[in-house]
Amino acid sequence: MSASAEMPYFIKPSLNLDAEAKRAAYEQAQMAIDANLEGETDRILKMATINSVLKTYLPYYYWAGFYVVKNGRLSVGPYQGTLGCLHIEFSRGVCGKAAREQKTQIVDDVHALDQGSAHIACDPNSASEIVVPVFNPQGELIAVYDVDSTQHSSFDEIDQGYLEKILEKHFRLSALE
Ligand code: SME
Repeated sequence: MSASAEMPYFIKPSLNLDAEAKRAAYEQAQMAIDANLEGETDRILKMATINSVLKTYLPYYYWAGFYVVKNGRLSVGPYQGTLGCLHIEFSRGVCGKAAREQKTQIVDDVHALDQGSAHIACDPNSASEIVVPVFNPQGELIAVYDVDSTQHSSFDEIDQGYLEKILEKHFRLSALE
């Protein structure tokens, strides 16, 4: 699969936020997610809803979506953005590292990483990213949540804090089908 640098008409370049605006956007997104997922247990429905709300509120979310653990590798789940890679081995990319280490990864400049091994470029417009591991109530890794921006250094500990909290609340601390 070859990735084109052309940005489709329905996707806009990312806009970074300062810390205050970022916190305000996450607070609003969190409230919308909690209100919409009240009582829901279906994990695909939760992934699709969380992803849609976050991408709507955060203007630097260019590609955002889940890679779910399936048959010993990561396979693409609910996402928004340009065409994502379908499968990612645990040994490759930022997503693979987050899955292996079960720890959030933040990369300020993905082009500085070794391409094909440390980073997989599904879309060359991506410049920075965050990948957060997702666990079920048994503490097992079920997915990673991957967000890419076309700007450098879009993600920091504010993103990490909110994303870990949202994903923990709706997957690790809630009933799942
Ligand atoms: N950034 C990822 C690949 C997935 S795409 O960005 C959608 C990685 O290197 O793990």
